[in-house]
Amino acid sequence: MHAAAVLALLALLPPLAAALDTNCVRASCGNLSIRYPFWLRGRQPSYCGYPSFGIECDPAGSAPLLSDSFLRVLDIHYGNSSVVAFHTNLADADDPTGCRRGNKFNMSAAIALSLLTISSANWELFLCGNCARRLPADWLPMNCSTGSGGGGGGAEWFVYLSHAEHGGADQEIAAAGCQYSAVPVMPGSELRAPGDYGRLVRRGFLLEWKVPGDCAACEATGGGQCRFDAGENAFRCLCPDGSSQPATCARGEFTY
Ligand SMILES: *[C@@H]1O[C@H](CO)[C@@H](O)[C@H](O)[C@H]1NC(C)=O
Ligand SMILES: *[C@@H]1O[C@H](CO)[C@@H](O)[C@H](O)[C@H]1NC(C)=O
Ligand SMILES: *[C@@H]1O[C@H](CO)[C@@H](O)[C@H](O)[C@H]1NC(C)=O
Ligand SMILES: *[C@@H]1O[C@H](CO)[C@@H](O)[C@H](O)[C@H]1NC(C)=O
Repeated sequence: MHAAAVLALLALLPPLAAALDTNCVRASCGNLSIRYPFWLRGRQPSYCGYPSFGIECDPAGSAPLLSDSFLRVLDIHYGNSSVVAFHTNLADADDPTGCRRGNKFNMSAAIALSLLTISSANWELFLCGNCARRLPADWLPMNCSTGSGGGGGGAEWFVYLSHAEHGGADQEIAAAGCQYSAVPVMPGSELRAPGDYGRLVRRGFLLEWKVPGDCAACEATGGGQCRFDAGENAFRCLCPDGSSQPATCARGEFTY
């Protein structure tokens, strides 16, 4: 084709749809920096991040909520794709000791967000009661049968912080024949007193995310911006030339 004809054709094309905009540039909520795959609900368009990674800033200054969840986000580590969050149902002011939660809570079941998983780096806080046999002496007895939030029903409850890679505590519980729940807490937590439950739970635990699309690669190649395309349910890399690419803005890729 003649060069002049090509130019004429280009002139007839509609303007490139999505030029780079500033809608998704880094936002913050309190001291948290919010960027892909997170987005600031109510302040940014939803294409700035994954649907379930919307951050709802709390006007009262509490840690922000993660969209449609019971998780409040304390910290986001973009470098290793992990979040520190606590579960609001566990940090219940009516139940500071955790006694009422006793044997009812299962964090894996409570976190039905498929893109976020509970990190195996967490330590675990065990609450344990109605045991058929005695637990080892390093399990701290809790004052559950009386006081606020009492729900132990008169039974003796125990608390124990485990940093073993699974195994140990579960075996002791099984040997003693107890009902129990295990709550993930930050690695390095310290259980100093039976009443430490609330403090440990509110420090949160680690979750790791895995979302399709390599945002770092998109941003590293020619100034791309990460987007979520709800229609396609897919990651897109929005490039300075206005094109939307499946992975990066590197030249030679298939262009839509
Ligand atoms: C962020 O702010 C919260 C209070 O909203 C505070 O507890 C926390 O220590 C702060 N984190 C950093 C890294 O400054
Ligand atoms: C990710 O990195 C942060 C900061 O370096 C660290 O505190 C956190 O434990 C790491 N997350 C995981 C899941 O290892
Ligand atoms: C907790 O819930 C998960 C997911 O629903 C399930 O696989 C697991 O067996 C449950 N754990 C306990 C101790 O009930
Ligand atoms: C248990 O709690 C009740 C009510 O709060 C309190 O009076 C009692 O001293 C506590 N017992 C122990 C051993 O801490």
